[in-house]
Amino acid sequence: MDHPIVREAARQLPLYEPGRNAELVARQLGRSDVVKLASNESPYGASPRVREALAEMLSGVHLYPDAGGTALRAALAEYHGVDSACVTLGNGSVELIENTAKAFLEPGLEAVMALPSFLKFRIATRLMGARAIEVPTVEDRVDLAAMAAAVGEQTRVVFIANPDNPTGQMVSADAIMGFIDSLPTSVVVYFDQAYFEYVSDQEPPLLPLIERPNVVVARTFSKAYGLAGLRIGYALGNPELIASLGRVREHFNTSSLAQRAALVALADEEHMRHAVAENQRERERVFSALSAHGLIVTPSFTNFLLVRPAVQGPLASAHLDEALTRRGVIIRPMGFYGLAGAVRISIGSRAENDRLLAAIAEIAS
Ligand SMILES: Cc1ncc(COP(=O)(O)O)c(C=O)c1O
Repeated sequence: MDHPIVREAARQLPLYEPGRNAELVARQLGRSDVVKLASNESPYGASPRVREALAEMLSGVHLYPDAGGTALRAALAEYHGVDSACVTLGNGSVELIENTAKAFLEPGLEAVMALPSFLKFRIATRLMGARAIEVPTVEDRVDLAAMAAAVGEQTRVVFIANPDNPTGQMVSADAIMGFIDSLPTSVVVYFDQAYFEYVSDQEPPLLPLIERPNVVVARTFSKAYGLAGLRIGYALGNPELIASLGRVREHFNTSSLAQRAALVALADEEHMRHAVAENQRERERVFSALSAHGLIVTPSFTNFLLVRPAVQGPLASAHLDEALTRRGVIIRPMGFYGLAGAVRISIGSRAENDRLLAAIAEIAS
């Protein structure tokens, strides 16, 4: 129950349900071999070079981090061929979503987003007391025409993720550019590329995007780079937009360990590429196996699959989430995303995916 004087926008806030904690589930089930495929983490971990760099950093944890994230921002600026003023860091890319809402939204204003889409878009909008205008996807893809049509006088932000979560689907680079061009420049487009590394050759070129006065591109080290636990992401955009996000951020929002880890991870492209290639191979294998059981699986460009019940047979009626949890495999139920009966399954390592597929086969038999 809330405190009686909690702010109305906070009282109305949808509560985020994160993936269940593997240790907790292991304790509840009394088994030690629990597999978590619920939070789209990388099963390949961080680059070994990150681990070495973090060990060296431990002697400095009594010091505050560089609030400006100077070294990492400079490295990211060089990597992308832009000025450091075009880069801001976030405590995970979720903080960049929140900072965008803080900078541009307030009661009476609106943000447009897809439904379903990444829930933080809705949560950050509502936290500011603004209205979330949610535009239904069509066949699990964002409906860009309908989203553009939903932009009105009070719209200040459009949130769009490509590929999107929880569908795993994406739209073409041309479609994105056309969509952005169709919007007034008085609307900030928050273009979320959390899964960029999995689809890099299919996305619009970065520089023409961030040359626009109203586009913020956000990326993260949580997925293909394997740094989810350290919480570090970044946004790119024109210096004015980036300064506005920087103005509302918590001053020391990214830790010294996270900044250093991201710097080292960025330089180990080979590790990241390995994770992307392995993910693609495993995703195709899991997709085929689940489809062969009659489950309805949305083709994915990411490190997870959106899965709906089969039309007939045991997998039509099974409560997959509960049935898999009982077998020590944690996945993510999608009721919270408005997709009752659907589940989202992260692509794990080969051994983890084997566990998932064995459990599914058992439920289906
Ligand atoms: C579309 C999308 N954006 C952003 C994030 C947040 O990632 P992080 O805060 O770890 O960078 C996620 C995480 O699942 C996501 O799916």
